[in-house]
Amino acid sequence: MEKQLKGVVLAGGTGSRLMPLTKVTNKHLLPVGHKPMIYYPIEKLTGAGIEEILVVTGTEHMGDMVSLLGSGRAFGCRFTYKVQDEAGGIAQALSLAENFSHGAPMAVILGDNIFEDALSGFAAAFESQARGARILGKEVHDPERFGVVELDNGRVLSIEEKPADPKSRIAVTGIYFYDAEVFNIIRQCRPSRRGELEITDVNNAYVQQGLMQMEMLTGWWSDAGTFASLGHVNRLVEQHPPQF
Ligand code: DAU
Repeated sequence: MEKQLKGVVLAGGTGSRLMPLTKVTNKHLLPVGHKPMIYYPIEKLTGAGIEEILVVTGTEHMGDMVSLLGSGRAFGCRFTYKVQDEAGGIAQALSLAENFSHGAPMAVILGDNIFEDALSGFAAAFESQARGARILGKEVHDPERFGVVELDNGRVLSIEEKPADPKSRIAVTGIYFYDAEVFNIIRQCRPSRRGELEITDVNNAYVQQGLMQMEMLTGWWSDAGTFASLGHVNRLVEQHPPQF
């Protein structure tokens, strides 16, 4: 890819599964180890040499987000901020990155995804791709909570969002790489049954075009969107600190 990789952290959504912790603050500002949750995805991106980072969050807590993160000087990057008016889904939040991307490829991390591996190797692999997208998979014991891949000899055949009857135990983590074609794909997406523009629909469009690559994470990975996973991730960052 010719243009330099940019970073996107998606930190909107309602955080309803963590009520009342999220009644007066944003989920991504809650503590994980010694830092606010959102520091982890940001430091993964800066650790991979990414200097331009867009942070998307909702209307209610944008003020706190800007107070916490500032211009990016303290992180060695430059932040751009965009407001997602309603929690219309991950793909809708990503659509707000179109002007920011300005044709450049992007590394996108969900603000509640915390993981051990450094991002740099995956970013380099994506940059050596001519076009398309790259997802990172991780084997989990509760695949029905996630996007799940159907595989044939290591090749992704399809992805199902929260399937009742998962075709594998490999979850699609909230760490994605996209070329700028992603915005045309999102424009063709329609809201799902839960009323959201689904990132899984976007990923399936790349799969169907034969432009999706998948790699497995080697270290631990967890979301932090429920009480159980938030507690789990707090223990993991203490026991096996993430690499940046
Ligand atoms: O954690 C990985 C999983 O994330 C994937 O395996 C799934 O395919 C993907 O759909 C997503 O599943 P969740 O249902 O767990 O996503 P959730 O609604 O909890 O949102 C995750 C993050 O995405 C959240 O911390 C902030 C961001 N987000 C979400 C929504 C719905 C936004 O920025 N805006 C939104 O409207």
